[in-house]
Amino acid sequence: MKNFYITTPIYYVNDLPHIGHAYTSLCCDYIARFKRLDGFNVRYLTGTDEHGQKVENAAISKKIDPKSFVDNVSKNFLELTKVLNLSNTDFIRTTQERHKKSCEFLWKKLYDNGHIYLGKYSGWYSVRDEAYFQESELIDGKAPTGADVEWVEEPSYFFNLSKWQDKLIELYDKNIDFILPKSRRNEVLSFVKGGLKDLSISRTSFSWGINVPDNSDHIMYVWLDALTNYITYSGFGVDEEEFKKNWPADLHVVGKDILRFHAVYWPAFLLAADLPLPKKVFAHGWWTNEGEKISKSLGNVIDPVKLIDNYGLDQVRYFLLREVPFGNDGDFSKSQLLQRINSELANNLGNLVQRVVSFCLKNTMGKVPNHKEKFVKEDLEIINSFENELTTLRDLINKQKLDESLKEIWQKISKSNKYIDEQAPWNLKNSDIDRMNTILYCLLESIRQIGIFLQPVMPDASNKILNIFDLKDSERSFKYLSSRLISGINLKKQNPIFPRIET
Ligand code: MSP
Repeated sequence: MKNFYITTPIYYVNDLPHIGHAYTSLCCDYIARFKRLDGFNVRYLTGTDEHGQKVENAAISKKIDPKSFVDNVSKNFLELTKVLNLSNTDFIRTTQERHKKSCEFLWKKLYDNGHIYLGKYSGWYSVRDEAYFQESELIDGKAPTGADVEWVEEPSYFFNLSKWQDKLIELYDKNIDFILPKSRRNEVLSFVKGGLKDLSISRTSFSWGINVPDNSDHIMYVWLDALTNYITYSGFGVDEEEFKKNWPADLHVVGKDILRFHAVYWPAFLLAADLPLPKKVFAHGWWTNEGEKISKSLGNVIDPVKLIDNYGLDQVRYFLLREVPFGNDGDFSKSQLLQRINSELANNLGNLVQRVVSFCLKNTMGKVPNHKEKFVKEDLEIINSFENELTTLRDLINKQKLDESLKEIWQKISKSNKYIDEQAPWNLKNSDIDRMNTILYCLLESIRQIGIFLQPVMPDASNKILNIFDLKDSERSFKYLSSRLISGINLKKQNPIFPRIET
């Protein structure tokens, strides 16, 4: 079995989860589930980023000690993985012992390889971004993200990032898809070409973090600590064999705001520690809410749990993945959500399933009918198209064109709806039962294939669809697309899969 390893960023535990967290996790879940059905052994990592000044400040403001604070807030993110029905294979917390070991091991490697030196940092720091900024980067005295910055002067260890400029450029040139989308790649490339400064990788003015080995006056910079989570899961510093088997990751999915950390700092750390590099970093865009930037001060933060309570999990999963070309910014609009639920889910998909199955329950004794007739061209277009569809979907998923992959599945759904209208099996009830049965057979077979294709995006609804045919778990993978439905099996009645929502 081939391995596939995908990661979300690990989320800061200074606050409650919001739509941005849910979005990254869902995109990864979609890819992870797809790959699993396609025969890969998938490792899908998510978790929480629990150290640093931002989290320490949040704990102080709540008058709770940091450890109890992060234990509490991290639970909300763990809970979110259940609410979103994620298929993650681990949930990492940076306060775990295994992670501490991994960070210490990486630090020592970097140190022993001669890439860390002790110095003094003086410059601007944004706690909200947990990032250093140069004077020239500030806009009206703030970080480019709009966050406040403070002047920091403290002893600090540095990583010799400046030495890695050429190697990084070579990496981006040789691996044209290392950073996607292309526009983001160009941004990173010009940033690196502009020259890199050595990076401060330890702090002394607070203590909520992992101690630097052999000098407990310093804690590690939270981004060095956080990025290491991706190798902690692979057993780095604990089990060499496991690590070799499991690393590198195939895909890091991140938001556009944290691309620099993943596409510049992270590969530089890994190169300096003589470790293999991840294969790809994909940066997605940001959501706005009804055209407005999402922010706590505007009070328009979208709570994914409430959203799911109101509209249903599979509906939200579908909407978030379908609405925006993956990589672009997107706008969350309630009317657009309702529109997609009613037209694409209730009308297009829900009705197809409903009308075919109801018709069979009345007219084929609730069974998959026999197809005595030979299949004609139109039938074969419906039941034999899966091979091309799977090839197309694979390609789209491998290029992270998630929204387009859904469009492709919906084309199949529309094709089946068109087929039922054109073939009008209801007109054949009295005149040509054999042809009617053949048409129904083809429609049921198409619904089975659609059910299989839909599993990554809507695990619950596709489960209901596949339960109509009482398929075993083992018969739901892509391998089974080519095995046809057996005539004579009983169809199980299902309630409407996607009821319309009245607007
Ligand atoms: N802890 C760091 C990541 C460390 S990874 C080694 C972090 N955490 S975060 O909680 O602030 O952000 C996590 C993700 O949420 C980021 O990928 C960010 O882009 C994403 N989003 C935050 N707000 C968002 C939107 N409004 N829309 C889409 N995604 C957004 O950064």
